[in-house]
Amino acid sequence: MVALGHDVKMGSRTAKNAKAAEWTKANGPRASAGTFADAAKFGEVVFNCTAGSVSLEALKQAGGKNLGGKVLVDVANPLDFSKGMPPTLTVCNTDSLAEQIQRAFPDAKVVKALNTMGNEVMLNPGLVPGEHDTFVCGNDPQAKAQVVEIIRAIGWKNPIDLGDITAARGLEMMLPIFVRLVGTLHTRIFNFKIAT
Ligand SMILES: NC(=O)c1ccc[n+]([C@@H]2O[C@H](COP(=O)([O-])OP(=O)(O)OC[C@H]3O[C@@H](n4cnc5c(N)ncnc54)[C@H](OP(=O)(O)O)[C@@H]3O)[C@@H](O)[C@H]2O)c1
Repeated sequence: MVALGHDVKMGSRTAKNAKAAEWTKANGPRASAGTFADAAKFGEVVFNCTAGSVSLEALKQAGGKNLGGKVLVDVANPLDFSKGMPPTLTVCNTDSLAEQIQRAFPDAKVVKALNTMGNEVMLNPGLVPGEHDTFVCGNDPQAKAQVVEIIRAIGWKNPIDLGDITAARGLEMMLPIFVRLVGTLHTRIFNFKIAT
């Protein structure tokens, strides 16, 4: 996002997180760091990139007031690694993390996006040759359009709009197959392609 010309504040549980400080140093004056609340207050658009099993807690720390009225892009996956590999999902089938977040923060405009590929491909889709896909879903059409614009700026040509936030159930349930593919293909540089 910094590379696209945006000012970005990375949030953490503590204001002096070492990894955030390293990232700030490496990314120049547009990059800054603070607590989750600092980051949520700062952003016009807020990305939830926290571990999915604790995202609700992290967002509570970010503060409902700081998230109110904002586009909240939920990139997180509700993976539970507590029993080792492969991880299970903390929520699925009839609910999703994105829906839990939308219910917990009704004034935020939650858009699920970019959760179905590794971060290398997420930020550089050209790493995988040919056409391949990414998805969005959410209840607020304008918020979704704003997120699609951001995703296109990253290099994703035609993000597929799956409708309202309940589509996040399927997007999050793609993770077990993603994790399995990493093991089978011995790489994270791949993606899903929808052929019609
Ligand atoms: N990495 C990928 O390739 C990728 C791709 C797609 C989607 N995702 C999703 O993006 C999210 C972030 O993934 P990641 O690989 O960057 O790292 P991660 O280890 O899953 O998450 C790290 C983040 O979670 C926060 N966190 C950890 N424990 C917490 C707790 N008890 N309470 C509050 N916050 C806590 C950390 O805060 P601190 O900074 O304070 O430690 C940090 O912001 C995940 O949900 C993941 O599934 C990741």
